[in-house]
Amino acid sequence: MPSFKSDFPVFSHDPSLVYLDSASTTQKPKMVIDALNTFYEKQNANVHRALYNLGEEATNAYENARKIVAQFINAPSENTIIFTKGTTESINLVAYAWGRKYIQTGDEILITEMEHHSNLIPWQLLAKETGAKLKYIPMKTDGLLDLSHLDHYFSPKTKLFSMVHQSNVLGTLNPTEMLIQKAKEVGAVTVLDAAQSVPHKSVDFQKLGCDFMAFSGHKMFGPTGVGVLVGNMKILDKMNPFLGGGEMINKVTLKESTWNNVPYKFEAGTPNIAQAVGLGVAIDYMNSIGMDTIESIEYELTKYALEKMKNIEGMIIYGPKDRGPVISFNIAGIHAHDLATFLNQDNIAIRVGHHCAQPIMDILGVPSTARVSFHIYNSKNDIDIFCQGLETTITYF
Ligand SMILES: Cc1ncc(COP(=O)(O)O)c(C=O)c1O
Repeated sequence: MPSFKSDFPVFSHDPSLVYLDSASTTQKPKMVIDALNTFYEKQNANVHRALYNLGEEATNAYENARKIVAQFINAPSENTIIFTKGTTESINLVAYAWGRKYIQTGDEILITEMEHHSNLIPWQLLAKETGAKLKYIPMKTDGLLDLSHLDHYFSPKTKLFSMVHQSNVLGTLNPTEMLIQKAKEVGAVTVLDAAQSVPHKSVDFQKLGCDFMAFSGHKMFGPTGVGVLVGNMKILDKMNPFLGGGEMINKVTLKESTWNNVPYKFEAGTPNIAQAVGLGVAIDYMNSIGMDTIESIEYELTKYALEKMKNIEGMIIYGPKDRGPVISFNIAGIHAHDLATFLNQDNIAIRVGHHCAQPIMDILGVPSTARVSFHIYNSKNDIDIFCQGLETTITYF
């Protein structure tokens, strides 16, 4: 298995670090860190407004990042790429700018019980405000969606369907295309939370067929503070603006205003310019390795970890056998927080808690889980150290 650890400066700074929390945020390759420095050292200016060379250079770098993103996910055009702060803001953008315009009392919004709070709370708020009904496709205790009564959930009243592509808690790979198709058959607008899929495998927006897709730069080697909403241009065009301010307008008078074209209509104010440029470089980095290679390395790591972990005394692993590079677990008799604290003493970083998905914890019947998640800088040796750390912790308790 190839090793990419040396591309990530954090591991030369701290060679003993075993970082198993990439579902939360990934470490950054040198290429991306250098790109941020280069931007601030050589290209920094505001975008879309300066008539001087530096401003043009900054604008070109920012718009070039939009092109890179569009190609990476096979968006129909770069104009359908809206830079946001992250997945959370992208989904809120749809809930506010589309939802507040089109959802009415009596309509139904359909999501699943497997959602991250980012793809749940915006719809709860929208349903409360508009009098719409929020419905959930259930999740079973094995971590798969219950697909047995779909016709009960999809109806002509369903105006919006939003779902997670790959679960951040269980790694579940959902039957996305089938469910999007179902939603389209009843005329619903469709949203895909791709925060945990775009960083790990090749994702084709046009092939998936959804109207909107959201993901975060920081989970795919990019800087924090930048994410993406890609959308169907026909719908984006008709939507209300999200935030109001500079750059999102066409003509402003004291009485009323008109809006700029998409995507600028949704990018009010000075955007996260350097971060968007950094995201473009992060995608260049991923492309240089190849998404299929990334997926197969992570598949190998996940398989290896599942095999080793299941032999540990008291181990309870949640979620299906086929999964992305995320494993949630508990060890009988040891609180997940104690596990994380003990592992931290050996410089092993894992995540514990409800993972911003409290309904999943309720279904599993636990207050919290421990979670390990992988990316290409991880090795089988990391997993060996982690499993050894678990054994030591168990012996202590
Ligand atoms: C599935 C999923 N959706 C949404 C989010 C929210 O992403 P962000 O915090 O970058 O907005 C996360 C983050 O963990 C996630 O895993």
